[in-house]
Amino acid sequence: MSSEKYLDDLFGMKGQTAVVIGGAGALGLCLSTGLGKAGAKIVIADVREEACVEAIKKLESEGIEAIYTLVNVTSKESLTELREKATAWGGKVDILVNCAGINVGTPFLEVDADKWDAIMAVNLKGTMLSCQVFIEGMLKTGGGSILNIGSVNSDKPLSRVFAYAASKAGVVNLTQNIAQEFATQGIRCNAICPGFFPAEQNRKILDAKRVENIMNGTPMRRYGDPSELIGAALLLLSRKAGSYITGSALYVDGGFTCSWF
Ligand SMILES: NC(=O)c1ccc[n+]([C@@H]2O[C@H](COP(=O)([O-])OP(=O)(O)OC[C@H]3O[C@@H](n4cnc5c(N)ncnc54)[C@H](O)[C@@H]3O)[C@@H](O)[C@H]2O)c1
Repeated sequence: MSSEKYLDDLFGMKGQTAVVIGGAGALGLCLSTGLGKAGAKIVIADVREEACVEAIKKLESEGIEAIYTLVNVTSKESLTELREKATAWGGKVDILVNCAGINVGTPFLEVDADKWDAIMAVNLKGTMLSCQVFIEGMLKTGGGSILNIGSVNSDKPLSRVFAYAASKAGVVNLTQNIAQEFATQGIRCNAICPGFFPAEQNRKILDAKRVENIMNGTPMRRYGDPSELIGAALLLLSRKAGSYITGSALYVDGGFTCSWF
């Protein structure tokens, strides 16, 4: 067997359909590109239509078969509509990536309860609802694989992002619970916990002091590039290479979570 055939057999996604929620964002689009290049058909699902249109152009320019559907991850109805459209287009949904997320940085005594709820609604409730809706479909079509996105502060505190951190700790916990619940039913559920990958969402909270702290706390002394998440995603999502991996939280963080001082 040639090495190309061997790798395709292990990690390839031909014949599979992947729904990437938050797929028009920085990390979501990069993961979509990786999954598409590995052979999957891609459904970009996001709240921002213009960004979806741009994302489809980018994927098509790479030769990837893709469509977009608008979704609001906080609404079960909207997610159910997404599942139906994706299933009608792809035949079934094999892969779900939950990559929608929002964040705001605030000192603890100024945390606003409505903002707290809004962050929890997208990051944690949205992930739960999406898993619920898509697992319901996957159980009828022979199983599937889910990738949720945590963060380095799923595990460790960072400054000024209390709601975000709590939501991301919840995402990892939810991932483990779902993995356990559906392990014998052909559904695997894992998380990637990225370190620092500058994107629209976190750029606004990256002041000079924070950047210095991040660099000091990251043994590799640099930000991640979104493309550095693709290998981890392919491993966790692939039917063969990832077949015995469920409930894991894989930190892709330049060593941030292992760093002591
Ligand atoms: N960039 C980083 O350094 C980093 C680090 C750790 C974790 N993350 C997580 O990775 C994921 C992607 O982040 P990113 O950096 O690509 O940010 P991003 O802002 O570029 O992407 C987030 C996407 O989610 C979409 N979205 C927001 N609310 C939504 C909703 N209600 N319904 C559907 N879609 C919605 C946005 O439109 C956007 O396209 C997020 O969950 C984020 O918390 C990012």
